[in-house]
Amino acid sequence: MTRTLIHGGTVVTAIDTYAADVVLADDKIAALVAPGTFSGPEASFDVTLDARGNYVMPGGIDAHTHLDMPFGGTTSSDDFQTGTLAAAYGGTTSLVDFAIQAKGQALRTGLDTWHAKAEGKTAIDYGFHMIMTDVNESTAAEMGDVVKEGITSFKMFMAYPGVLFVDDGQIFRAMQRAGEVGALICMHAENGIPIDILVQQALAKGHTAPKYHSLTRPQIAEAEGTHRAICLAEMAGAPVYMVHLSAERALMEVVEARDRGLPTFAETCPQYLFLSEEDLARPDFEGAKFVCTPPLRPKAMQEDLWRGLRTHDLQVVSTDHCPFCMKGQKDLGKDSFAKIPNGMPGIETRLYLLWDGGVAKGRISLNRFVEITSTAPAKIFGLYPHKGTIAIGADADLVVWDPKKKHVLSQKTLHMRVDYSPYEGQEVTGAPAYVLLGGKVIVDHFKYVGNAGDGRFLKRATFGLG
Ligand code: URP
Ligand code: ZN
Ligand code: ZN
Repeated sequence: MTRTLIHGGTVVTAIDTYAADVVLADDKIAALVAPGTFSGPEASFDVTLDARGNYVMPGGIDAHTHLDMPFGGTTSSDDFQTGTLAAAYGGTTSLVDFAIQAKGQALRTGLDTWHAKAEGKTAIDYGFHMIMTDVNESTAAEMGDVVKEGITSFKMFMAYPGVLFVDDGQIFRAMQRAGEVGALICMHAENGIPIDILVQQALAKGHTAPKYHSLTRPQIAEAEGTHRAICLAEMAGAPVYMVHLSAERALMEVVEARDRGLPTFAETCPQYLFLSEEDLARPDFEGAKFVCTPPLRPKAMQEDLWRGLRTHDLQVVSTDHCPFCMKGQKDLGKDSFAKIPNGMPGIETRLYLLWDGGVAKGRISLNRFVEITSTAPAKIFGLYPHKGTIAIGADADLVVWDPKKKHVLSQKTLHMRVDYSPYEGQEVTGAPAYVLLGGKVIVDHFKYVGNAGDGRFLKRATFGLG
């Protein structure tokens, strides 16, 4: 057995903040003891980590990533090896990526494809949601089998007609089935049909620059999709989770549903908290770096999302990491914003940005930081209490966080396989001193010391409100 002692730190969970030393036995948390309990020569540990001046927190859980995903005529530039390595550097120890059912195929085929992409390659633990592009009686029946294998959430798209879009009947049927088998439906809630008309009209007028991406995807399209998804879920008697919520009017729909006691949940992403349509309007095609869907919104909307995080109407911040290089990928849309692959890098920078712009700036508490980056995604997606908290018996996935460490975000020093950073040159405070996965140190002061393949597949539990 490997015994590890993390001493001198302050333990932070979603609820508590207290001084304690943390004892690990192999891959689990074995004890939380008063500081200095094991300071004598009789206490022998295989590994001792000094956490003085640092916070000891559960490792980050990113519930929304797209690694090695074919999309927009190309493939997201991080695969399961490079993307999970970057995640580890940034303090994330588990992620849930999206396996895709191609139209006309069985869910099984999509799932096998994604298992093959990930198996043996990941630096951190990983699970899958399943994207459904074709809901019929056969695939609805298959949802029960997939849930038994630990894939307990399904994403569907009201956007991207002709690509990933499914109609309301298919969404409703999948929601009914999700209710029966204990699964959660994740919605890309943006009405893609009028959006496509706006896109064609903009292009016909010669409006080809990246900034037209947001002008053709108004927030009403997201608010309407959010409202409709909530109504469909209510009719089906099923919970629903809004992915990448970006707009104030969509948030108001979630607030109204939650006030009525509906099991409605929502996440937002750092790009909506820190970037805006001003970035999309940067000249000389630089705006393409910021093309993601839903689009970046007016700057003033950032404070609405922070408010939603404080009031618990937004429960999670995940990344929607879907990187494309400017050269050879984003530039497919040089002559038409509609051809710019949609997505941005973010798997590595989530905790940096939320610490610096959230905790350090006094927008959220330490405990809320842990809750939105780890505990809440663990609870909503069936990973709790093994993940998402610090408790005896839980997985020893931990971040020893130095709240004073200053560093500059730059594509040159970040590890995501993409040729730009949306946050280039921004100085942030706060970084991991150590990242531990299953009791093993995998990052030691910005140095990766783990092995690709350390990560294991996570068989997630069914949805429960507990
Ligand atoms: O722009 C984005 N979000 N790309 C990834 C696909 C999606 O809709 O989540
Ligand atoms: Zn989406
Ligand atoms: Zn996404």
